[in-house]
Amino acid sequence: MSKLEELEKLKKEIEADKSLPLSTNLVFGEGDPDCEVLFIGEAPGMNEDLQKRPFVGRAGQLLRKNIREIGWQEHDVYITNIVKRRPPENRDPLPEEIESYKPYLTRQIEIINPKIIVPLGRFSMNYFLPVAKITRDQGKLFGVGNRFVLPMLHPAAALRGNENMKMFEDTFKKLPAALAKALSGNIEEKIEPIQTAEKMKKVEDVQKKLF
Ligand code: URA
Repeated sequence: MSKLEELEKLKKEIEADKSLPLSTNLVFGEGDPDCEVLFIGEAPGMNEDLQKRPFVGRAGQLLRKNIREIGWQEHDVYITNIVKRRPPENRDPLPEEIESYKPYLTRQIEIINPKIIVPLGRFSMNYFLPVAKITRDQGKLFGVGNRFVLPMLHPAAALRGNENMKMFEDTFKKLPAALAKALSGNIEEKIEPIQTAEKMKKVEDVQKKLF
């Protein structure tokens, strides 16, 4: 089965799963299933629900503009969300909503098998790096399993202030170099300062004991 067929099958499974929370339209994700870079947001908003496409509103336009500005094409990457239906009134996704959709996201990642995952915002980042903090850790490159993870601010946060916008754009500009590294070698020979999720957990544990 091709990746496209596997993704289509997964989408049908989500549609058929009546135990999932939220009853708005399914926004499964879009892009090239053979991509090297996968962007993962939180949950669809109103525009995404209407169009059944991820990141098509104001925040989405910013994301897509930054993809083009580093010389990539939107259709060469893949864009999706953890929670695949819109929460009411665009509220943050609830922990139980994230938990319910997680197994489907995990399978979607396995099918696409990207070199780099870019979590957008803290909810998505915490799926890969449970103890990371978005303002502290965005823009750092992490090794999680056999993949690179480069967390970024959510583009909606970037729209809320010049400082955030600069942080978002600066991190975006790191993506081509991070991808070149991911393609060139073993995850063990990583660029500095790559950190592993496990190492980070240990640092957090020590911090917890000290303070
Ligand atoms: N915000 C998200 O996290 N995802 C979208 O698809 C749109 C806005």
